[in-house]
Amino acid sequence: MKKVYIETMGCQMNKSDTERMYGMLSNFGYEQTKEPKQADLLMVNTCSIRQLSEDKAYSLIGLWGKWKKSRPELKIGFCGCVAQQKAKEIFKRANYVDFVLGTHKIYSLPAIIEKINLGEKICECEETNATEDSEAVKYNINRVKSVNAWIPITEGCNNFCTYCIVPYTRGRERSRQPETILKEVKDALNSGFKEITLLGQNVDSYGKDFKDKNYRLADLLQDVNAIEGEFWIRFVTSYPTDITDDLIKTTLELDKVCEYFHIPMQSGDSVVLKAMNRRYDREKYFEIANKIRKMVPDVTITSDFIAGFPGETEEQFKNTLTAMEELCLDYSNTAAYSPREKTVAARWVDKFIDEDTKFERLARLNEQNRKCCLASNKKFIGRTLKVLIENFEEHKGQKVITGRTRNNKIVHILSESDLTGQFLDVKITGCKTWYLIGELL
Ligand code: SAH
Ligand code: SF4
Ligand code: F3S
Repeated sequence: MKKVYIETMGCQMNKSDTERMYGMLSNFGYEQTKEPKQADLLMVNTCSIRQLSEDKAYSLIGLWGKWKKSRPELKIGFCGCVAQQKAKEIFKRANYVDFVLGTHKIYSLPAIIEKINLGEKICECEETNATEDSEAVKYNINRVKSVNAWIPITEGCNNFCTYCIVPYTRGRERSRQPETILKEVKDALNSGFKEITLLGQNVDSYGKDFKDKNYRLADLLQDVNAIEGEFWIRFVTSYPTDITDDLIKTTLELDKVCEYFHIPMQSGDSVVLKAMNRRYDREKYFEIANKIRKMVPDVTITSDFIAGFPGETEEQFKNTLTAMEELCLDYSNTAAYSPREKTVAARWVDKFIDEDTKFERLARLNEQNRKCCLASNKKFIGRTLKVLIENFEEHKGQKVITGRTRNNKIVHILSESDLTGQFLDVKITGCKTWYLIGELL
């Protein structure tokens, strides 16, 4: 057996692609190693959401290129979102790379490996805009052993927010067939997974592109929920205006679907939202978030925000801080705006916010996030919550199990034994900014 190591740099969609690539390679004589130095085949699954993530990919292959000087038989693959965008350019920048594989063609991996082993250099980056489901079912998926299985249900994006590269790296929105998804869910449950996360760049637009049937996320949730066994269901990421009343009601009715919505707001200011090409304003987002809060008890709502979007004024930025606070958001991912090639906002150079201001705003955003998180955690002290245990670790001489509640709160619990994979009732006794502290009942 040869050994393969894949470094994954992006979102859950990238992680899910990595699992599929490991799965395919396991059918072709490659076993997974956790040690890059022991690998015969090194692959990086790249992300281009911000310049920083792209730069990280280049510096990593730079290091691998040095290893190859003393081990010429070593093979190097450059995959994922940066590959999709840059294609053959990668060879100019790093001539030691053996293959470049974009996001649309991951199922050509076995054929590519055969060719590079004969000494060819390969670039597979055309857009197919097909879901390639027929190919997907041929290969097993080598999921990272854990309790949660990521299952992509829709890929790509039609929204073209002016800052975002995803529509260029993942193509147009396309939904996978319900039968394929349900098979993957059942396979994951049969191999011991206890939580299913349905994935999509805009998960709640699932099924919009089906011409032959009216089958949407709410329908899929019902079908997944109907599968026998004890497990939880989550879905990410939601686009605010695609969350219908029907979807909220469905999540309420279905016992396995968790009380958790990830709904990126991006900015709390309506003028900035318009410039971002988001299809809602501050008021609309408030209306949606407040409706969910009212309808779903104990729901957590998490979000993403960008600091220093081109043209953002101090006043507009403050509207983001107040939105976070007034909505009592439970957690937010935050980032400083990073101009991305091909996107509309990257052309607004004269409106760019200087780096110091951008990072000063990001720091204030992070401070508000910390406050929101702590306040959100404090609400649960004294309650008893069901926790799915994900991990067991010894830390500073203490043995700790870590898990998540239905509403996606992380809980740390002292425990002598490893209870990974179990659903336990836990009394919440305290909290820190990023997690709850609990005791087993
Ligand atoms: N589909 C999701 C987001 C996917 S990208 C949605 O529409 O909400 C993940 C996050 O990366 C985004 O929510 C955004 O906050 C951040 N992001 C995207 N492009 C960015 C850029 N150019 N600079 C900084 N952050 C960015
Ligand atoms: Fe990017 Fe906007 Fe699509 Fe989300 S909805 S992936 S932010 S273009
Ligand atoms: Fe990054 Fe591609 Fe995901 S750009 S965030 S890895 S879709």
